[in-house]
Amino acid sequence: MSLIQALEWRYAAKRMNGQKVPQEKINNILEAIRLSASSMGLQPYNILVIEDQKLREKIKAVANNQPQITESSLLLIFAAWDNVTPAHIEEFINNTAEVRGVSLESLAGFKNSLLSIANTNTPEQSYQWAARQAYIAFGTAIAAAATEKVDATPMEGFNAAALDELLNLKEKGLRSVTLLPLGYRDTANDWLASQKKVRRDKDKLFLELAA
Ligand SMILES: Cc1cc2nc3c(=O)[nH]c(=O)nc-3n(C[C@H](O)[C@H](O)[C@H](O)COP(=O)(O)O)c2cc1C
Repeated sequence: MSLIQALEWRYAAKRMNGQKVPQEKINNILEAIRLSASSMGLQPYNILVIEDQKLREKIKAVANNQPQITESSLLLIFAAWDNVTPAHIEEFINNTAEVRGVSLESLAGFKNSLLSIANTNTPEQSYQWAARQAYIAFGTAIAAAATEKVDATPMEGFNAAALDELLNLKEKGLRSVTLLPLGYRDTANDWLASQKKVRRDKDKLFLELAA
């Protein structure tokens, strides 16, 4: 299935049927998230993987009782770092040196530019930037799920402060950004399953500019 066919197939399922997604498909979706682009490659977020049904019941209660949270096979929570600290940058630079087999000295300029951004931004500015990076991974996950023929419902409809408290995210230096239940559509009970996809026309969406 091409990416276009996958994107035509997918929609934001409102009801799921509880069927389990095979682990291989989950692994492929997680790997796509891991390979997602991020500014400077820092990946300033974590993805929480939650299968536990009891915990998902509690999450549903702070997410407008959206049924997909418990009817899915697995719930992903995209959580951005609540700040970008020198320790994060240290770890990133060390990993870069190791993976590329280069010296730490050769990365000193890059490291300093990252440190100066981290030191200039307020924690809130860093979080807002990190959340934008998390959205890129989120978009990648939605497309990846579609190519695996797994339904995924992107969600912003939840109380982030309540969810952060429920999962003790502050202690982990994280703030929740978006949710992504993964599972299979319940076509019999989902009013949206039979509806046509609505998208803006090409000529309205793309504005061609030239000198
Ligand atoms: C960032 C984001 C947040 C969304 N939040 C919710 C949500 O909380 N609950 C829900 O059922 N759908 C949610 N949606 C789904 C959209 O309403 C849906 O993607 C949109 O109507 C386009 O339809 P389609 O994705 O089914 O083609 C969200 C989508 C995005 C991209």
